[in-house]
Amino acid sequence: MIILNGKVAAQAVKETLKAQVEKLNALGHRPPKLAAILVGNNGASETYVAGKVKNCAETGFESLLIRLDATVNEATLLQTIEQLNQDNTVDGILVQLPLPKHISEQKVIETIHPAKDVDGFHPVNAGKLVQGLPGFIPATPYGIMLMLKHFHIQTKGKHAVVLGRSNIVGRPMSILLSSNIPYGNCTVTIAHSQTQHLKDICLQADILVAALGKPEFVTADMVKPGAIVIDVGITRVEDATAKKGFRIKGDVAFQEVAPKTAAITPVPGGVGLMTIAGLLTNTLQAYLNNQKAK
Ligand code: GUN
Repeated sequence: MIILNGKVAAQAVKETLKAQVEKLNALGHRPPKLAAILVGNNGASETYVAGKVKNCAETGFESLLIRLDATVNEATLLQTIEQLNQDNTVDGILVQLPLPKHISEQKVIETIHPAKDVDGFHPVNAGKLVQGLPGFIPATPYGIMLMLKHFHIQTKGKHAVVLGRSNIVGRPMSILLSSNIPYGNCTVTIAHSQTQHLKDICLQADILVAALGKPEFVTADMVKPGAIVIDVGITRVEDATAKKGFRIKGDVAFQEVAPKTAAITPVPGGVGLMTIAGLLTNTLQAYLNNQKAK
């Protein structure tokens, strides 16, 4: 069994990006710039956004963090996005989700210009992904594809089972794995909360992607021996013995599942770090498209 170490794979992607940015700098060009909007102070969102900003700096990207109060009205948030859409020095825009209940996430997603939508959540980018056209792929599924590439995981003709059908992970992941692209070409089953005979379906998976947000949902009896297991879960579970009062749990019961697998991602230290690698790769692409359009 091998551990698919996200730190190692993400570092490799970041080194490549950093070298590309250094080349741009040497030619007298400005670096790529990501604008992140954080509404309120949800603990997990704070951590994710801080990670994105830190990784921008490490890779030579510029970043702009805009913090808005949890009580901000929807119109103000949409206006802020519009300003970033118009700002030629900003290549990528992301609004950290989830948002407070009084704000429509769909409206926010649709206000970000598709050419700056480095999260790949805009319907235009989602549609392009479905049709195999160039666009922005949501960062987590993109990061998983980069991880499969880094570790040379053979996917062609395999049966991939994706647990979860969210627009952020499950749905785009299923499309990528079924596409005729490197590290795609799988036969894909999407399973979700209404799926019957879930265990039987999971047992058929050569590649099992768990993205349902239920800590330790996938147990050893659901995994075929020799499967590749990708754990997308990152849930904070209260634990009085932990320093911060919580522990991060994946969707897979790692201890019992890992010995049965050919390869598995750990949590933390797996897919989470690849998400940032996917985001930065999209941001560089947005920058290059932006320069070409001038
Ligand atoms: N919340 C959970 N995952 C993501 C993500 O990939 N991007 C944004 N913007 N918010 C998220």
